[in-house]
Amino acid sequence: MKTKLVFATNNNHKTAEVRAYLGDAFEVLNLKDIGCETDIPETADTFSGNALLKSSFVKENFQLDCFSDDSGLEVFALNNEPGVFSARYAGGAGDAANVKLLLENMQGITDRRAQFRTVICLIRNDEIHCFEGIAGGTIRTEPAGQQGFGYDPVFQPEGYDCTFAEMDTQQKNSISHRAKAMEKLISFLRSGQ
Ligand code: IMP
Repeated sequence: MKTKLVFATNNNHKTAEVRAYLGDAFEVLNLKDIGCETDIPETADTFSGNALLKSSFVKENFQLDCFSDDSGLEVFALNNEPGVFSARYAGGAGDAANVKLLLENMQGITDRRAQFRTVICLIRNDEIHCFEGIAGGTIRTEPAGQQGFGYDPVFQPEGYDCTFAEMDTQQKNSISHRAKAMEKLISFLRSGQ
């Protein structure tokens, strides 16, 4: 029988991706599959703290091993803001408003270095394991590209002349922070640890 493992997300796309890698060894369930309708609070001030809140919630309430992810953009010249506030930087007004506010706050700043960071927190056999992925780059002065989401139109990854929003999904996924963290999780789980 396959081991049940919950991915604490409502994102079907993310779930399908993980199932493609782990489906032969694990039964990967998402929040909908386990009937969890609670909007789990993400009130920590670090990505790992938020990921741990989500995994712990599932472990405590559903007694199932679980992993969850939390990501965001860190801009060096802004003291690593927006960080854990990335999704609601402009007060919940959405991606375009977040990007607009970021560009306003960076007006006149010449150090444009930034990074996306993902932390995945796994609770398995009562042990906590964290996996991190980072994608470094710079913030453009104007948006470019239509793909992706969030800050993709203003983020130019290191070593490229285009933004994440100008890349196709496959190309972005080969270098993204989320993919790097996920690869670490998957190799940990596949190694049977
Ligand atoms: P989540 O933890 O993956 O839901 O990410 C939180 C927020 O960080 C998103 O709502 C975006 O604003 C931002 N973010 C995270 N990953 C990305 C990305 O790959 N591209 C653009 N924005 C991202």
